[in-house]
Amino acid sequence: MTSVVLVAFLVPLGLLARTLAQERALDAGQRDAQSVAVFAGGAAQDHAQLEAAILAVDSGPRQTTVFLPDHSIVGAPATRSPAAGLAALGRALTARTEGGVEILLPVGGSTGVAVVRTFVPDSELTAGVRKSWLILAGVGAILLVGTVLAGDRIAGRLARSVRNLSRVAERLGAGELTARVEPSGPPEVASVGRVLNGLGARVAGLLATERELVADLSHRLRTPITALRLDVEILAEQQERDRMTSHVDELVRAVDAIIWTARHPLHDVPAAQCDAATVVRERARFWGVLAADKGRDLRVDVPDAALTVGVSAEELGAALDVLVDNVFSHTPDRTAFALAVRAHDDETIHVVVEDDGPGFVTDRAADRGHSGAGSTGLGLDVARRMAEQVSGRLLLESSADGGARVVLELPATP
Ligand SMILES: Nc1ncnc2c1ncn2[C@@H]1O[C@H](COP(=O)(O)OP(=O)(O)OP(=O)(O)O)[C@@H](O)[C@H]1O
Ligand SMILES: [Mg+2]
Repeated sequence: MTSVVLVAFLVPLGLLARTLAQERALDAGQRDAQSVAVFAGGAAQDHAQLEAAILAVDSGPRQTTVFLPDHSIVGAPATRSPAAGLAALGRALTARTEGGVEILLPVGGSTGVAVVRTFVPDSELTAGVRKSWLILAGVGAILLVGTVLAGDRIAGRLARSVRNLSRVAERLGAGELTARVEPSGPPEVASVGRVLNGLGARVAGLLATERELVADLSHRLRTPITALRLDVEILAEQQERDRMTSHVDELVRAVDAIIWTARHPLHDVPAAQCDAATVVRERARFWGVLAADKGRDLRVDVPDAALTVGVSAEELGAALDVLVDNVFSHTPDRTAFALAVRAHDDETIHVVVEDDGPGFVTDRAADRGHSGAGSTGLGLDVARRMAEQVSGRLLLESSADGGARVVLELPATP
């Protein structure tokens, strides 16, 4: 933009300088010719006087000649050009000739018309033009460099502010709700920064409120659990009382875990890991009692070696419970089922829950909120999200007998 403006101003200035130099040289030539013309008229042209007049004016590169009517020439040697012939008819003119311009001035006298010719060479016509162009080019270059530096600084400040904005927006988008931007740059950009900060604070506030609400709601479960515990404590049969007490303890632990999880944002949860084999073995023991009650055969296939995965034992246990709960809810009593865990390859571990029931009847089984049994339809989605949290997957397949097979594919942790 600056170069366009500079060209628009400097080129006309340069042309003007050239025109001025030409006019100055032609004016000087005109003056020379007129000074000599004073002596070229008159009845008796005195050659000596003319020579003296010519010598007086011919100081620079200009040369003055007088063509007298008697065809003699006084002053600098020159040939009588056609333009000089034209001037002899009584017309003053300026004509281009080889190497410059000739100014021709007719002077009438008693013996005829004398023509005074002053030759202005090209070197004088363009004197100082080159210097003017160089000065203009220098000024243009300084202005250009100045504006480039100033423009770069201004654009740099703007780019820095916008980059900060985009970095903070990315961090907010990635869930880091404490990220804030230092509003800077032009007022519009600074105002976007302030709005972004407000947005971050608002989203963080809303999420905190939601989490506290979930915690409050879960906390309400404590009252019926306490009532249940009191009922269990007065059970007469010792074995039954112990079994029920352990179930109630489990329930209390689950509610506490829900309240804790609800009150802590995801990124506050410390990275955890557990031995999947131990968790599956422990859950198999828990569900084995109920399976026996319902006449279900439970097969457990767990290796002795530890298979470490990057989730906490509580989370993996909760996901397994969801899957086993589905077996109990969606297959008829006495249907056998199996729990297994194995290293699929060096990098993945498969935790499998499969049954001999009717299998999945819908493709949308894993969709959140979709239940084929009029329930909440959250179970499989909870398990899927647990797997995806550690870059794993939930696979819904068919077992060899056509029953349902659900595989939690989790990355192995070294
Ligand atoms: N072992 C299984 N055998 C046959 N169908 C199953 C089995 N497990 C899940 N399904 C089907 O997948 C659907 C979704 O299961 P999901 O656990 O997500 O929800 P739900 O069990 O219906 O409800 P919720 O678990 O929230 O009480 C079930 O409604 C059922 O139709
Ligand atoms: Mg379910």
